[in-house]
Amino acid sequence: MDGEIGLGMVGVGSWGANLLRNFAAQEDARVRWICDVDERMLARRQRTCPGASITTSLDDVLNDPQVNAVVIATPAPEHFSCAWAALEAGKHVFVEKPLTLRACEAERLANAADCRGLKLMVGHLLRHHPVVEYVRRLIDAGELGDIRYAYTQRVNLGIVRSNENAWWSLAPHDISVICYLFDAVPERVSVQGRCFLQPGVEDLAFGMLHFADGRVAHIHVSWLDPYKIRRLTLVGTQKMLAFDDMEAAEKVRLYDKGAHIRQETTSYAEAVQVRSGDVLIPKVDLSEPLQRECRRFIQAIREDGSVLSDGWSGVEVVRILEAGSESLRRGGIAVALEEIAVRRTPQEETPALVGANQE
Ligand SMILES: NC(=O)c1ccc[n+]([C@@H]2O[C@H](COP(=O)([O-])OP(=O)(O)OC[C@H]3O[C@@H](n4cnc5c(N)ncnc54)[C@H](O)[C@@H]3O)[C@@H](O)[C@H]2O)c1
Repeated sequence: MDGEIGLGMVGVGSWGANLLRNFAAQEDARVRWICDVDERMLARRQRTCPGASITTSLDDVLNDPQVNAVVIATPAPEHFSCAWAALEAGKHVFVEKPLTLRACEAERLANAADCRGLKLMVGHLLRHHPVVEYVRRLIDAGELGDIRYAYTQRVNLGIVRSNENAWWSLAPHDISVICYLFDAVPERVSVQGRCFLQPGVEDLAFGMLHFADGRVAHIHVSWLDPYKIRRLTLVGTQKMLAFDDMEAAEKVRLYDKGAHIRQETTSYAEAVQVRSGDVLIPKVDLSEPLQRECRRFIQAIREDGSVLSDGWSGVEVVRILEAGSESLRRGGIAVALEEIAVRRTPQEETPALVGANQE
């Protein structure tokens, strides 16, 4: 596509402000509209981007033929209707995570984008993190051996939300990264959580993704925690790795550590051989993931290229989230992903945003 790409920003609250700043900085794109149902928010955001028109109506954005793409950062319950309307109007769409609250709705969006030849990108920010891409290259090169398991922690104090629980709010990032690094989708998902502050809204969740080949990944999310932690640990048969996104520069540590059982020995003490070698802190690209994400969306439109975190990856994440919600509702028993794919009629759908545990 030649010429400037016209953008409409829909939902410009706290995260939308970051997207606005980054998209407004793209040289070959122009923010034409800023849309939010809150007029005071509109007035504030227009200061970031004085050239843009403001509106409380999505129709104004969609009716402008010079708008090629719409960026949606409304609360999650609004994602489906806004994205659907934008695709129907023939616009490319960037939508924040989670893509939707139902896997069947996510599928409709992904299909609609494919049928119309439009780009649909989901804000799985960490998929654009240079460290995540670096870790994937290490795995592909066999540096860690076979991955045995992973665990992530995404905890801090606040933002406490009321229209989604900590699982839906925080876990999409970890789920998208784990599926990418494992190059697989889990077979079953189990989640336990607790609601401390608001009835029916889990502030804390411990999720487990079970993969068909025996690998597992544990996800701990909470907005009620004294620490701000953003960490991923991977344990492979050859090496182990920790990615700490709170570190300013030394984000990755590669441990030459492992253990294996020697078959030929007689005593247990002799059989377990533990290796504790060097720790490497590799130099990694520290460019900002959000900048990369926004740039890649614009590039995909301009070059008619593929989208990295596309609608189908959004479907995958929503299915896992939905299976997790169902597991929460059933008290933590594992739920097969298959169950989610086939639950399509409205009567059969369960409330996805929050589970049922109350404390
Ligand atoms: N990628 C990330 O790291 C990241 C981080 C934070 C939030 N998010 C996601 O971004 C989205 C927004 O989160 P937030 O924290 O900015 O929420 P927020 O409540 O601060 O902002 C949402 C904005 O959308 C507006 N809005 C609501 N309904 C609308 C509609 N129908 N049309 C237009 N505007 C509407 C609200 O007035 C508000 O200004 C959520 O989906 C959230 O999960 C992503």
